[in-house]
Amino acid sequence: MSMRLNKFLSSCGVASRRKCEEIILAGRVTVNGKVTENLATVVDEKSDKVMVDSIQVKLPTEFIYLKMNKPKGYACTANDERGRKTIFDLLENKDVRLFNVGRLDYDTEGLILLTNDGDFANLVTHPKYHFEKEYIVTAEGQVKEGDLAVLRKGVVIDGVRMPTAKVKLLSFDGKWSKVSVVIDEGQNHQVRKMFEAIGKDIKLLKRVRIDGVHLGGLYRGKTKPMTAIEIEYFKKGF
Ligand code: URA
Repeated sequence: MSMRLNKFLSSCGVASRRKCEEIILAGRVTVNGKVTENLATVVDEKSDKVMVDSIQVKLPTEFIYLKMNKPKGYACTANDERGRKTIFDLLENKDVRLFNVGRLDYDTEGLILLTNDGDFANLVTHPKYHFEKEYIVTAEGQVKEGDLAVLRKGVVIDGVRMPTAKVKLLSFDGKWSKVSVVIDEGQNHQVRKMFEAIGKDIKLLKRVRIDGVHLGGLYRGKTKPMTAIEIEYFKKGF
């Protein structure tokens, strides 16, 4: 079967389709021995030899879908340029090439999905499907009703209005507030920027849900396979 190079690479589990475009443009991909930076390149899975960083990539025979409870202090990348620990160090089976579906900041913990199915990753992260992500924020001091109203409306940062959010105060123990924040679009560091805008320091940021998939009781640093229902949920959920 012939397909565009970025689709082929993501189907091989290299990264999401958009990330694969960056990899192609960075000159890291060869087709039959020649570097190609042309995003319109079409390859044939049977007859073309495609390599990324001099390693041949092939279509997987089996798809894998995992949920992980990412701890703080791990980067969501296969190779961290600063040499920090990555979520891939936590995988028990390191033989299968997986990639993370979206990302969490180094200091954020909670639910992250991993797969070698590029179409699935593309679907879950595509802004047009508006899959919800729920975070629990532990913030210093009391988050008041006025702060929540500002967050709901969408704070303005550097002249850009952040998307609206569903927010709810869960508790305040006299020192820390716990707030549930649900967003369906993700800009980089969005939740941290939102709390910075209302002048609240975040002590802990944790993602507990990606639409119908919950973190549940998964221990920190552990992974478990997604259920067929969870996988189908995304495939049917748009
Ligand atoms: N928003 C953030 O600010 N950080 C994350 O890791 C996820 C969402």
